[in-house]
Amino acid sequence: MKFKMNNGLIYFFGALGGLLFGYDTGVISGAILFIKKDLHLTSWTEGIVVSSILLGCMIGAAISGPLSDRWGRRKVVLLAAAIFCIGALGTALSPSTEILILFRVILGVAVGSASTLVPMYLSEMAPTAIRGALSSLNQLMIMTGILLAYIVNYLFSSTGGWRWMLGIAFIPGLLLLIGMFFLPESPRWLLKQGKEKEARSILNFMRKGAGVEKEIKEIQLANKLEQEQGGLKEVKEKWVRPALIVGAGLAIFQQIIGCNTVLYYAPTTFTNVGLGSSAAILGTVGIGVVNVIITAVAVSLIDKVGRKPLLLIGNAGMSISLFVLGIANAIMGHTAGAGWITVICLAVYIAFFSLSWGPVVWVMLSEIFPLSIRGIGMGIGSVVNWLANLVVSLTFPKLIEQFGIGTMFIVYGLMGVLAFVFVSLKVDETKGKSLEQIELDLRNKNEETGALRLSRKI
Ligand code: GLC
Repeated sequence: MKFKMNNGLIYFFGALGGLLFGYDTGVISGAILFIKKDLHLTSWTEGIVVSSILLGCMIGAAISGPLSDRWGRRKVVLLAAAIFCIGALGTALSPSTEILILFRVILGVAVGSASTLVPMYLSEMAPTAIRGALSSLNQLMIMTGILLAYIVNYLFSSTGGWRWMLGIAFIPGLLLLIGMFFLPESPRWLLKQGKEKEARSILNFMRKGAGVEKEIKEIQLANKLEQEQGGLKEVKEKWVRPALIVGAGLAIFQQIIGCNTVLYYAPTTFTNVGLGSSAAILGTVGIGVVNVIITAVAVSLIDKVGRKPLLLIGNAGMSISLFVLGIANAIMGHTAGAGWITVICLAVYIAFFSLSWGPVVWVMLSEIFPLSIRGIGMGIGSVVNWLANLVVSLTFPKLIEQFGIGTMFIVYGLMGVLAFVFVSLKVDETKGKSLEQIELDLRNKNEETGALRLSRKI
């Protein structure tokens, strides 16, 4: 039988796409130094090689959600795994800049698909009580992937082996492809297709029988409600709007609070404060290790503390550290002291990000949409996230040239304050609620506001 893999392995392989997401987006920062020399890139083509993956990510995020609503989650992850393998080999072996860019876009399609499908698959497989922890394994894998990329970059940096740096991603890609063959389909998706028998046996196997009938009833009730209301095929329906606003808001804010600019800028600051290049690389690996450890702490906290408090604490910590950084740079100028304060503030920022917005956004995107449009809704959230990522990373170099690093980080700090307000006002806690309960609450909220509007009119 297909699903005779134990639960630990199911969640491991379910989350493995996250590792490829992290590796493939992180590895280029080291590889580009050598690609630049080898393929004689100009600063223009260098920018295109680096950011072409983001274009693919948007395509992957846009198509994988709807496809997974139609074909099932598992099949589309299998397809993404095959694309990961093709992308790794294609980029590693590319004879020219054009081919390299083409395969970076193809690779992006897989990364974008993983960003949509991995959290969704994990949250649909998980029991309610530990759903946050299991879904945030995605971000733990992303961080691990980034760390592995740093290490591989370090190992191959003395030989300039950029083709190896890119090609090694074939191994986890293949592992994902093999693993997904043995993984069960999401029981929630199966029930939506009316495949009750298959869904029940998967749930019985995964939950060891506990609470299975109740879970099935809840899912079926949510499905029935959707059908009675004329079926929910459209994301345009009014009662889904609050979920779309929260999803898009979280996705955009995660990027415009500056997470990727800080992550990529942090290593440069080590050299700015006078560390030699190998010490700077070690410092970067150190940051990677701390990221993984703190994300693991977030995994253990998310179902206890809840999603919303983590987001708010994260915002407070990130914004304060960016403000201190900005003020220190403004007052102290280009001194060694200011350099060290910058390093410490960026480290504190990254620690707070790993504890909060890193894991929580992907978890919440996978929870807030009703089942029949979960794929599309999650897809919209990730497309918006990748688009914001692209805009921030394309504008960052120009903006620091124009306004200076201190000012830019203060701007990201201010975005953090806006994000804090957005979360306080718009985001509802999802901890401890089943996916079906979240859907029901969304529906009731719409009826309540509708009734309120009506009563005001009367
Ligand atoms: C989140 C972000 C992604 C970022 C990563 C860093 O997954 O969505 O853009 O690179 O965290 O850990």
